[in-house]
Amino acid sequence: MKRVLNFGSINVDHVYTVEHFVRPGETLSCQQYRRFAGGKGLNQSIALARAGASIYHAGKVGAADTWLKTLMEDQGVDTRFVESINGPSGHAIIQVNVTGENAIVIVGGANQLIGEADVLRIVAEFGPDDYLLVQNEVSAVPQIIISAKEKGLTIVFNPAPMSPQVLNYPLDLVDILVINETEAHSLTGESEAEKIYEIFSHRYPHAALVLTMGHKGAGYFSPQVLFHQPAEKVHVVDSTGAGDTFIGFFLAELIRTNDPKAALAYATRAAAICVTRHGAADSIPSRGELEAAQQPF
Ligand code: RIB
Repeated sequence: MKRVLNFGSINVDHVYTVEHFVRPGETLSCQQYRRFAGGKGLNQSIALARAGASIYHAGKVGAADTWLKTLMEDQGVDTRFVESINGPSGHAIIQVNVTGENAIVIVGGANQLIGEADVLRIVAEFGPDDYLLVQNEVSAVPQIIISAKEKGLTIVFNPAPMSPQVLNYPLDLVDILVINETEAHSLTGESEAEKIYEIFSHRYPHAALVLTMGHKGAGYFSPQVLFHQPAEKVHVVDSTGAGDTFIGFFLAELIRTNDPKAALAYATRAAAICVTRHGAADSIPSRGELEAAQQPF
């Protein structure tokens, strides 16, 4: 079975349900406060595990929060490359408003302590049959991409959250780039899918692009094919983690079937279930749930 190595963040999510996002100078009481497991990396690893993939998470977590590592293990994620450190974990301050939108501030903590030695040691355990997945919430992203490419892994990069540094990353080494419309605009200056695809086909002629567009669905574009998958209509209570769910299920299904169209449809359905629930990792469905949900929502 092909393996996925996910170098990813592990966060404690502090989630505040609010009437509206707090405004400049305003002090606002929240309607509810909850603490969840999160981090784009952890969420994507759990989504991959729930979708049935063989997933190895690499990252760092504060010694006081080893419950996050245990949670991943319980979900079927191999955590032998997750290191506990003496220091704070990464965390996120998340406001969720009445329409289920979120506004997130992240603090890197342990996620920013991944160094080149960690990367070389861990990547050495993987090879050309395997996939590397990485987001932009950990340190050493360029080294992770370069080392994994040297070992022949298929590189999947989700440049979230977007930062100016991403423009200097070795994006030409990426095999599958997964981005939302905002990230696509930062990378290309374009907002329309067709124009985004056109720019990517010139800049990265060997890569595939997965473009997520919220209620407009998602697209898959490669030198061979172009697919569009409409979104499913659901009642959104919390969109946190929907993109991560999408990526985990997309990659798991792509590895299982080698069919990007089927993977796009599968991921879209998983993300639709995720947004109907609160939290990030907690709201990710299982493969069994997806298969049971035959009818559109
Ligand atoms: O993508 C959602 C995630 O972004 C949250 O779980 C939060 O931790 C931030 O990393």
